Amino acid sequence: MSGVVIVGAQWGDEGKGKVTDLLAERCDAVVRFQGGNNAGHTIVKDGVQWKLHLIPSGILHPGTTCVIGNGVVIDPKVLIEELDALRARNLDVSGLRISANAHLIMPYHLLLDSAGEAKLGSLQIGTTRRGIGPCYADKAARLGIRVQDLLDEKILKKKIVAAMEPKRLSLRPFEKDPSLDLKSMVEEHLTYGHRLERHIADTSKLLWEMLEEKACVIFEGAQGAMLDIDHGTYPFVTSSNPLAGAACVGAGVGPRAIDEVWGVSKAYTTRVGSGPFPSELHDETAEEIRRRGGEFGTTTGRPRRTGWLDLVALRYAARLNTLSALAITKLDVLSGLSTIKVCTGYRGAEGAEFDDFPYHQTVLHHARAELTEVPGWSEDLGECTSLSDLPKAAADYLELIEDEIGVPIALIGVGPGREQVIWTEAGRATLLGSGAQRSQSAL
Ligand code: GDP
Ligand code: IMO
Ligand code: MG
Repeated sequence: MSGVVIVGAQWGDEGKGKVTDLLAERCDAVVRFQGGNNAGHTIVKDGVQWKLHLIPSGILHPGTTCVIGNGVVIDPKVLIEELDALRARNLDVSGLRISANAHLIMPYHLLLDSAGEAKLGSLQIGTTRRGIGPCYADKAARLGIRVQDLLDEKILKKKIVAAMEPKRLSLRPFEKDPSLDLKSMVEEHLTYGHRLERHIADTSKLLWEMLEEKACVIFEGAQGAMLDIDHGTYPFVTSSNPLAGAACVGAGVGPRAIDEVWGVSKAYTTRVGSGPFPSELHDETAEEIRRRGGEFGTTTGRPRRTGWLDLVALRYAARLNTLSALAITKLDVLSGLSTIKVCTGYRGAEGAEFDDFPYHQTVLHHARAELTEVPGWSEDLGECTSLSDLPKAAADYLELIEDEIGVPIALIGVGPGREQVIWTEAGRATLLGSGAQRSQSAL
């Protein structure tokens, strides 16, 4: 069996889409296992930009099976729009398979997400307002509507009524909202069902069969470790588990299907939305990194908060995911900074030092980054194709990361283009060992 999990090792937007797209070329299937269209994955291929929210980042490779697993929450309207947009660009999407057990984001989830944020006022999470939290809440409450329900009018209607009943009070302000009209909601969703029917499948079985045949399957994570609902900076998190451990449950395979876990991290840190961020910058360097890195959300367009690379958080992510390899993206963005800082520890309110990520929220909220300064470099990295092309300071910076985290770096991003990447020896070795061999010659 050869399963490779690709997860975000920070607060999301690390470049998982690009890394997945790169590996997908050498794999047979890509499966999304959690999250929904809160995700935004940008891929640049031959100078052309593709933005994906729900459809796995393997879709650009003909012949790669793309699967939306049971752990994903699907806004059917958004999915159909995304499919149509890809079709309009002449992409073959016929191979997409959608789990019949995945839950649906319904119109009331969208309203409740926004209403929940408004109610929290200054304590708001800064969600993407895509209905993610309310949808997962209904799933846990066993009031969810699933993809398979779209194919049965009677069941669909009954389930929508049951799901809306306990929400009557909170939905009262939206009583006149046309999206909540039961009759049109049912009709609209039956239409979605017709549109999606040919893609709906028993995806757990499909993946099992592929893995049995020694196919290479990528499990594509959305968001990142620090947004994990159990292990992230709760409550400033998303409502699912972006950790590698969730890949199995969210795709319907057992843990023995996983051979490799790749964690993606930028060479610095960003975060969208509220919540603690110990290495955050508030000065002109923050602006400079945001501008150079194009740090504006793919999904909401919000400016991303920026800061130095946080090795404490990254070590935590490496542990939680048992990372076997790191992909460090956006190294090119740091070019031109005379010095670079890196967070090697935290200092708490009472002066205590922490090498490990604090489990207590109060400690974390008061944690300040202990920064180590390293030399920067001025060279543009966009054309570098091997480690030896990198300026010494950039290579030293990567070595520092590798030493501090204790996980080999498999690949390095030096620009948004899919060719702007450096494979390390460790990267080549892991790929070949993992069975991701569809086109080894490309390595
Ligand atoms: P994801 O959500 O983890 O897939 O990441 P996003 O796509 O939301 O954000 C990453 C952004 O950085 C995208 O615009 C990518 O095109 C871009 N990107 C990825 N890798 C690199 C890199 O190595 N260098 C630069 N400059 N941009 C990159
Ligand atoms: P990708 O897959 C970055 C953040 C939101 C908010 C919190 C909760 O592109 O890396 P939600 O809408 O999920 O309830 O919002 O999580 N968030 C992301 N931040 N990248 C993402 O996805 C994100 N998905 C959610 O900004 O702080
Ligand atoms: Mg993103």
